[in-house]
Amino acid sequence: MARALVVYESMWGNTELLARAVADGIAQVMPVDLTDVAAASLDLDDVTLVVVGGPTHGHSMSSPDSRRGMRCLGALHGSICTGLREWLGELPEEDGRWLATFDTRVSRNRRLPGSAAGSAAREGRRHHFHAAARPRSFYLVHADGPLLTSEVDRAREWGRMVAASVPAPRQAKAGRHLSRASRPPASVAQDAAGPDISLGGPVLVQHRVPEPVEDEPVPPETTQPEPLAPAPATAEHAQPEPPPAPAGYDPTLELLVERVRALQAHVGTGRPVLVGVAGEPGAGKSTLTASLVAALQEGGTTAVLVPMDGFHLANVALAALGRADRKGALDTFDGAGYAALLTRLRSAGPDTVWAPTYDRSLEESVANAIAVPPGTEVVVTEGNYLLVDEGPWSAVRWVLDEAWAVEVDPDRRTERLVARHILFGKPPETAAAWVATVDEPNAAFVRATFGRADLVIRGT
Ligand SMILES: Cc1cc2nc3c(=O)[nH]c(=O)nc-3n(C[C@H](O)[C@H](O)[C@H](O)COP(=O)(O)O)c2cc1C
Repeated sequence: MARALVVYESMWGNTELLARAVADGIAQVMPVDLTDVAAASLDLDDVTLVVVGGPTHGHSMSSPDSRRGMRCLGALHGSICTGLREWLGELPEEDGRWLATFDTRVSRNRRLPGSAAGSAAREGRRHHFHAAARPRSFYLVHADGPLLTSEVDRAREWGRMVAASVPAPRQAKAGRHLSRASRPPASVAQDAAGPDISLGGPVLVQHRVPEPVEDEPVPPETTQPEPLAPAPATAEHAQPEPPPAPAGYDPTLELLVERVRALQAHVGTGRPVLVGVAGEPGAGKSTLTASLVAALQEGGTTAVLVPMDGFHLANVALAALGRADRKGALDTFDGAGYAALLTRLRSAGPDTVWAPTYDRSLEESVANAIAVPPGTEVVVTEGNYLLVDEGPWSAVRWVLDEAWAVEVDPDRRTERLVARHILFGKPPETAAAWVATVDEPNAAFVRATFGRADLVIRGT
């Protein structure tokens, strides 16, 4: 009799919840075991169908680094050393078992390319598993959950369908010995890629499953505010290139306040809502966020502005590192410190959290300058690198409830930057040279991250 094994990886518990539902669905068709990947055996013995599920980290399967990052953000479950990537990588070469893969992703970022399920399916193909279904994503509201309504039901039904599509072991075994000549030609296999679940016998797996493509519409998210800017159409199977930025939008401050209020209604009262505003140097982020915070306060909301600039390394540190001549570049900030502060703010402890600020006249960060008292309802943060997807910075995006980007006419922006440098003491030629050689390369780097924003605001 056919037998299934569900192997899951989960740090916040959402993928585990789904894995249990998938196993429930499979159990309607065949006996099934369920195991955390850290405890999963590499000996698959009498298993006919393997189903693996894990969280999407950085557009792919998690890695020890990303799992360590999750632990720092407060995720309690899962192993740092062993995830699906490591387990699948160590499996012996297959010759006929069936594999189905699923993952969890954040719903508001569904346009971001890449998924753990897609990467796991590719790894499965390398091991010569037969694909029992296309990779499937299930969606969360935030990086730590909860799952969108009805995802558990979808998972149960998906598990049942996957199990029902797998032939009895004798047929599967025949597949193991299927000669190349007796396999369907590649074109037939390509055609067979249409339906979600495989219904026939084994086919050339390499041709059977296209790159990860969502095969059914993602259920609408009822509790999230509607995006103000339309999300761009992104090929789901594109590789993790920076995705195109959403189209620009010019909302009024009132609309932004409404958007924050909708987030508040969604998050509830247990912790502050965290909103980040990214933008190139001189884009007007600080003006916009100061107005937003003032408007929220006027409406009776306790809101605090915490700038990323407070995490500038001190001048003495920059000199020691030999980076003083490019102050403002990514590696002249304490990105891990910034991510840790946001995480602490999000976890809403009983104490006032003291955040640093940046003093432009001193050109130094000033520690413990901004108080974020317990019970603060909204924290707004702004800076160049909130949307960067590398190193400790990648965690920032996932701690924020929403991330917006501000874009502005490039000429206006550079004029404003030169004027600002002059105001803070640089001679005009030095100011212009600094903008051209330091600020502008940073601006190009920042612009390339806008695809991770929930909303792009056209600034003035
Ligand atoms: C560092 C980091 C990177 C992430 N990358 C992505 C991503 O590329 N795409 C996405 O949809 N979600 C991403 N997420 C959110 C995770 O997918 C989410 O936390 C996970 O699915 C939760 O599953 P779990 O509760 O089983 O751990 C990321 C989260 C973190 C902390």
